[in-house]
Amino acid sequence: MRTDILKQNEKSWNILSEAFFGVTALPVLGCSIPTENELHLFPDLNGKAVFEMGCGSGHSLKWCAEHGAKELFGLDISEEQLKTAKKLLAENGYSCTLFHQCMEDCSDIPQNYFDVVYSIYAIGWTVDLERTVKNAASYLKQGGIYIFSWDHPLLHCVDLESVSVSGGNRTVENKERIIFSGNYLKEDYYTFEKYGNPLTLQNRKLSTYINTLADAGFAVERVVEETDNTVIEKSADFNSGYYADSKAKKFPLSVVIKARKL
Ligand SMILES: C[S@@+](CC[C@H](N)C(=O)[O-])C[C@H]1O[C@@H](n2cnc3c(N)ncnc32)[C@H](O)[C@@H]1O
Repeated sequence: MRTDILKQNEKSWNILSEAFFGVTALPVLGCSIPTENELHLFPDLNGKAVFEMGCGSGHSLKWCAEHGAKELFGLDISEEQLKTAKKLLAENGYSCTLFHQCMEDCSDIPQNYFDVVYSIYAIGWTVDLERTVKNAASYLKQGGIYIFSWDHPLLHCVDLESVSVSGGNRTVENKERIIFSGNYLKEDYYTFEKYGNPLTLQNRKLSTYINTLADAGFAVERVVEETDNTVIEKSADFNSGYYADSKAKKFPLSVVIKARKL
């Protein structure tokens, strides 16, 4: 396992913790996609035991508690994120069990216990998808639900560019187009900086997620590849940002997968 990457990402997430307070948390599932309020992927949480892998600032666990979940468990690689989550949940009168562990290698978690295991914008951080998904299966009761969201794998492969289309000697108009600048087939690690802190991720194909679920004993019930109507309908200026609306109008920026443990 790439423990060097885990150590680096842990250090950076501890520094970035404050900047990610409540960012991408339920009912939000991803970028420019319909929310859980529209998609209804989660089952009725009343009296249920839920476990979030990569719980960040605890906002999604709070949402589960507000929707009736009885037992809240979470884990995160970042101690700073966990401190924030603990405080947020306590301030709102919810008790929770939090583990300072990575999703690839977490012992101590009850087995065959949870009704729902989920990760909102965290699974892509794993350096061992197979192990992470197998872990999720081991925590779930038979028939339990596993839901995760992440960047759509296409997002890493495309860029927007602005081109001038000229007629004769005159420039007629500026057009924007999406160019396929990456390689969908290569599941390589790549490193980028967030506010000066290095973070490393691995791009994965959509089929890799689905096949890994199948190998771990899950049946996939739903794959969401959509852009929210509000984004489709609004006008979007040319913007080369990673999560630009102009891209979202043409393909989904995030993907959500719901599976059931067989
Ligand atoms: C975008 S945040 C998730 C936000 C969360 N859904 C919420 O409601 O606040 C991603 C989280 O994944 C955590 N993370 C990154 N790599 C991890 C790993 N290998 N194992 C566990 N957690 C990890 C980060 O520390 C961060 O808190």
